[in-house]
Amino acid sequence: MKLDVVLGLQWGDEGKGKIVDVLAGNYPVVARFQGGPNAGHSLHFEGKSFVLRSVPSGIFRKDAQNIVGNGVVLDPITFRGECENIAKTGVPVTERIVISKKAHLILPTHRLLDAANEAAMGKGKIGSTLKGIGPTYTDKISRNGLRVGDILAADFPERYARLKDRHTKQLGQMGFECNPDAEEAAFFEAVEYLKQFKLVDCEYYINDILKTQSVLAEGAQGSMLDIDYGSYPFVTSSTTSCAGACVGLGVSPHNIGHVYGIFKAYCTRVGSGPFPTELFDETGEKLRKIGNEFGAVTGRPRRCGWLDLVALKYAVMISGVTDLIMMKSDCLDSFETIKVCTSYIVDGQPSDQWPFDTYADIQPVYQEFKGWNTDLTGCRNESELPAEFRDYIAFMENYLGVPIKIISLGPDRDATIMR
Ligand code: IMO
Ligand code: MG
Repeated sequence: MKLDVVLGLQWGDEGKGKIVDVLAGNYPVVARFQGGPNAGHSLHFEGKSFVLRSVPSGIFRKDAQNIVGNGVVLDPITFRGECENIAKTGVPVTERIVISKKAHLILPTHRLLDAANEAAMGKGKIGSTLKGIGPTYTDKISRNGLRVGDILAADFPERYARLKDRHTKQLGQMGFECNPDAEEAAFFEAVEYLKQFKLVDCEYYINDILKTQSVLAEGAQGSMLDIDYGSYPFVTSSTTSCAGACVGLGVSPHNIGHVYGIFKAYCTRVGSGPFPTELFDETGEKLRKIGNEFGAVTGRPRRCGWLDLVALKYAVMISGVTDLIMMKSDCLDSFETIKVCTSYIVDGQPSDQWPFDTYADIQPVYQEFKGWNTDLTGCRNESELPAEFRDYIAFMENYLGVPIKIISLGPDRDATIMR
């Protein structure tokens, strides 16, 4: 059987939570493979709303098993809070979630280091969510990290103390004033809480499942925040493209089936870094308002702009996207004219490629479409969609060379058209 992958193709916040929740009805297993509590995946169903951070978005499906893969960085404190909140609704979280022993642990001092690093960068800061993501992956790569499986070792407290010491020295050298002990008690309590979950060798566990069942892999962040292919250094610290699913779960590329690429009908970005189609005028303001573009994790207003097909095509290429999923086109219902960027002028030269130079001057070249001026939110069938909207979709499919298989017209599970 196959590992189908859901990925964000822009700068995050494309609506991955909703789509995984919708698709999870067809998959017995959902797995997160990278990122951590920097993610905020929003789910709306039966009049309820949830924002998931580290818990896979299959959690509310009665028969779905959820895996936190080895590529994830897990903050026991946040995870505990999240799980306890979900458990209040009657969901048996400890039965529905298994965690890879090889996932790395976010310590409270990783979060402090995140804050110290950002403070040191001043104006050039990344705009991190400050959840400790970068410092935890740094320790993983430099071979200093602690993993979930380590909590079972008798000398875990000593190993923790050694890593904390290292961090305290770093924080001291950076002159960052903080109390490294502040959350230590909460951390150890949360580590005890973690022990209720089945801690597994994810690679064996998932390959065993794949012998008889399909698995849905849930990406966090987006392709343009990928550590290699995003707008470095304004990126997150993990592989957000399709390859990350193989590395972050222990699954061979041969096992990848569908690659679902999610994008919004416009673009948003939180934090710093290039955003060629960003709008600074009332159109951008209108998108932010209609789309309610405020961070699910940090509450920060998101930067908004027109759809960027150059960046999107790049993301489709990197991950070999087989099926596109378009979100929030209903937010464009009241626009007279809709623009999409089809090429750039980079430092004065025409280009249809995402540039290497993060600091280049990138001017978007737009194609304009007549707006459909129709309320799409009630549409549940392809035949109900206005002609202008269908033309717009056909143009994108032609440009990107991949079919748009799902159109989402509202946050609820039901507001979804399968094509
Ligand atoms: P979901 O899964 C949007 C952004 C941050 C910052 C940069 C680095 O909800 O789509 P980090 O905390 O990783 O050090 O931040 O990446 N970022 C996100 N933006 N959605 C996310 O996740 C994000 N996770 C990180 O704003 O610019
Ligand atoms: Mg988010």
